[in-house]
Amino acid sequence: MSRPTEELPALPTPRLDECPFGPAPEMTRLRETTPVIRVKCPTGITAWLITRYADVREVLGDSERFSSRPGQAAHVLAHMNPDRPVAEGEFTRMDGPAYQRFRHHLGPEIGMPRRLLELRPLVRRIVDERIDALAAAGRSAEFYGDFAVPVTTATIGGLLGVPYSDRGLFHDAAAAMFGSATSEKGIRASTEPLFRYVHGLVQERRKNPGDDAISRMIGRSAASAEPFSDTELVMMSAGLLISGFDTTATTLTHGLLALLVDSEESGEPGKSGGSREWERLRADPSLLPAAVEEFARYFGGAAGLTREVTEDTEIGGQPLAKGDYVVLAVQTADRDPAVFEDPERLDVGRRAEGHLGFGYGPHQCVGQQTARLEMSVVLETLTRRIPSLRLAADLADIPFKTGTPVVGPAALPVEWDAVLPAGEDE
Ligand code: HEM
Repeated sequence: MSRPTEELPALPTPRLDECPFGPAPEMTRLRETTPVIRVKCPTGITAWLITRYADVREVLGDSERFSSRPGQAAHVLAHMNPDRPVAEGEFTRMDGPAYQRFRHHLGPEIGMPRRLLELRPLVRRIVDERIDALAAAGRSAEFYGDFAVPVTTATIGGLLGVPYSDRGLFHDAAAAMFGSATSEKGIRASTEPLFRYVHGLVQERRKNPGDDAISRMIGRSAASAEPFSDTELVMMSAGLLISGFDTTATTLTHGLLALLVDSEESGEPGKSGGSREWERLRADPSLLPAAVEEFARYFGGAAGLTREVTEDTEIGGQPLAKGDYVVLAVQTADRDPAVFEDPERLDVGRRAEGHLGFGYGPHQCVGQQTARLEMSVVLETLTRRIPSLRLAADLADIPFKTGTPVVGPAALPVEWDAVLPAGEDE
């Protein structure tokens, strides 16, 4: 259903060279003029593009009318064929009670306050060690590859009890899953080694449970009315490994770029203030939680999310037919002036609650509390230990990723004068 049969406007893809921090200007224009419009997606499917905050929130919140079955990025990733059958344990494409069975066990193991409290010292240690390594190597670094990816990789590995030395398995699988050029064969070749490896972990931890999230999910499953199969446990654990590092690393890198860039050069992030938002955050650490939330509003869900209409309905006054696809332009919605004042400005003091950057409704991000914790520890530690941190390249020379729904810089050169020692552990 919904294969193109007519000439339709092509879904505007972000023009990052002109607009490195936000959606293409065309998306903003559509939100103002045609907030629900039929478009052709990069993968060839047609869909209704939805850009207003209220409409995007309504769709995400109603899984009875709008199913997750196509997969969250079927409009971007050709290998995510929206018509393919749902595999055993592929919970991201399930709805209703079948989905809740997974969510019920995933959510608490990842996002419960007690788990986050236990995770914080680990994240602090990882961040301090990485900063010590940067300091030992000199006075400049590539933030995304040398810092952000190692930090978020070590965190998700620590959460699931996967050694850092085995990261290649889930890095390769994520690169294949999030690559728009990957074939279904390529996906299988990159995910099978990870699935085999995680299957081994599940079997080992059934016998010798540890204090990691995989062991705890096995324990919860065994105590539930409908225990998970090994395959289902593998899909849950591998899903967390695959989704749990580059999303946060990229948001952090994009966010740091926005904090450090000179507002006069960018014409965007700190535009009304004139000074760098970095200075503001450094001077007032009480802004940290707001800054993290603002990162999620400003950069979250940039590629958009796909859903399928399950019954004839309407959204924003536009009739939609059963079987139609919709694409939710989350980042454009999160810059809707009907909800956020001066929305194009990155404001680390903003109260950005209510944003949709981690999604909304049943499928909203399972790892959002982990991501918030990581971003908050990173920003707190960087502003404290490397106050002189600055960009080591012009904005125009920063490369951006292409062909992936994980939108952001591919590399971020930074430099500094001095790195202060780590404080006492809490
Ligand atoms: C700043 C970082 C992150 C952002 C912006 C982000 C964004 C999102 C969004 C928008 C969704 C909703 C998808 C939908 O409704 O179809 C989502 C789902 C998901 N996220 Fe995240 N995420 C981040 C970090 C993480 C982390 C650290 C983890 C793992 C610990 C994670 C694991 C997941 C999983 C497993 C799902 C699928 C949930 C489901 O379909 O039930 N994410 N994320």
